[in-house]
Amino acid sequence: MTVRNRLHDSTLAFLRDGYAFILRRSERDHTDVFKTRLLLMPLTCLHGEQAAQLFYDPYRFERRGAAPARAQKTLLGEGGVQGMDGEAHRVRKQMFMSLMTSERLRDLKNFTTAQWHAAAVKWETQSQVVLLDEVQELLCRAVCRWAGVPLRAGEVSLRTADFAAMIDSAGAVGVRHWRGRVGRARAERWAAGLIAQVRAGKLKPDQISALHVIAHHRDVSGALLDEHVAAVELLNVLRPTVAVALYVVFAALALHDFPNAARQLTEGGQAAREHFVQEVRRFYPFFPFAAAKVRQDFEWRGHKFTRGQRTLLDLYGTNHDRRVWGDPETFRPERFREWNGSAHNFIPQGGGDHFQGHRCAGEWITTALMQEALHFLTEEVKYTVPPQDLRMSLRRFPARPASRFVVHDVRRSA
Ligand code: HEM
Repeated sequence: MTVRNRLHDSTLAFLRDGYAFILRRSERDHTDVFKTRLLLMPLTCLHGEQAAQLFYDPYRFERRGAAPARAQKTLLGEGGVQGMDGEAHRVRKQMFMSLMTSERLRDLKNFTTAQWHAAAVKWETQSQVVLLDEVQELLCRAVCRWAGVPLRAGEVSLRTADFAAMIDSAGAVGVRHWRGRVGRARAERWAAGLIAQVRAGKLKPDQISALHVIAHHRDVSGALLDEHVAAVELLNVLRPTVAVALYVVFAALALHDFPNAARQLTEGGQAAREHFVQEVRRFYPFFPFAAAKVRQDFEWRGHKFTRGQRTLLDLYGTNHDRRVWGDPETFRPERFREWNGSAHNFIPQGGGDHFQGHRCAGEWITTALMQEALHFLTEEVKYTVPPQDLRMSLRRFPARPASRFVVHDVRRSA
């Protein structure tokens, strides 16, 4: 019997445990590393802070060819920064990080604040508001403006729907998956058209905007990006910013479900708001894991890693690791007063270094937009949360409350 055949296939456990699949098995077997098969594909699973440190070692793991094809056709696209390594990755990543200055973050926050206020005026006239849908749309308007991307009024709902479909489809099968493919194909055509117009001088976005920077970026070879790749990278800024709407909904859910934490928030000022946002990102599920391939053979904790082997790092489970968090299933923002700031134990958006590694380029945007949303939901408006199905399944990727969080009676505070 070959090693491959001996590997236990975990597809059923994965379908049962969803986001908690690696965590459950790691806790059960008291291990941070195990080999298994998912849908017949052999892979190694890593869990916890030390395993995350290993995973982000660029001499041991690489990203080329690591992303599942289904995710490339929907969420990620092909040819983008996620699948790059070495110097080529560093140069491409620098392009993204150059957009993340404090001035540019402030601009995005200002554009978003304006959108929140405009939305609240509209919500006051509505009998009910589906928060996830509305926040996706307002973030779409704000990020397009910030990125130098023209968006006609009649176009907003189509673009928002395409971004939402890409986000919703990577872990799905059937109609939901295909909606993501269609959304990606249409969005890539649109984004490639924008890149072409900028290069032809027909569209002149601000020099500091993402559209300008990406259209004129030169890769490690000194060449402009292929038009399609530039489109993928532009979408790598727009789509995940719209995805922050899910975290905003989780924050609203936390305000609703944990009134004590909500009360402390109003008394605790900016620091309390920051801790609340961190706890939302730790507590709620978003991406279950990150994927890489072994770059060269090595051994870790008695396990052999062989070149080319697919490896998953447990993002959700590492944020719920009892050894670090003690009571991981309790929502307790004040735990972040004591947090040691490790780059590898709190990894909702990946771990390691933003500039050198694959850690999320938009982490600062994410926390800034979440803090802004939290301020708005607690200080600028009042609303009621009617009875609805707020259950979230850990077996749905991405997880979200079934009702998409409905609110009633929105009133702007005096
Ligand atoms: C990468 C999560 C928001 C841009 C990632 C990764 C995760 C992640 C898990 C992969 C880390 C890895 O492979 O090791 C999230 C979540 C977000 C979010 C949960 C909130 C909704 C954003 C935003 C932007 C962004 C707002 C840009 C404006 C990127 C890019 C990468 C990335 C460009 C690829 C980085 C690389 O491969 O070097 N994100 N992200 N993300 N994210 Fe985010």
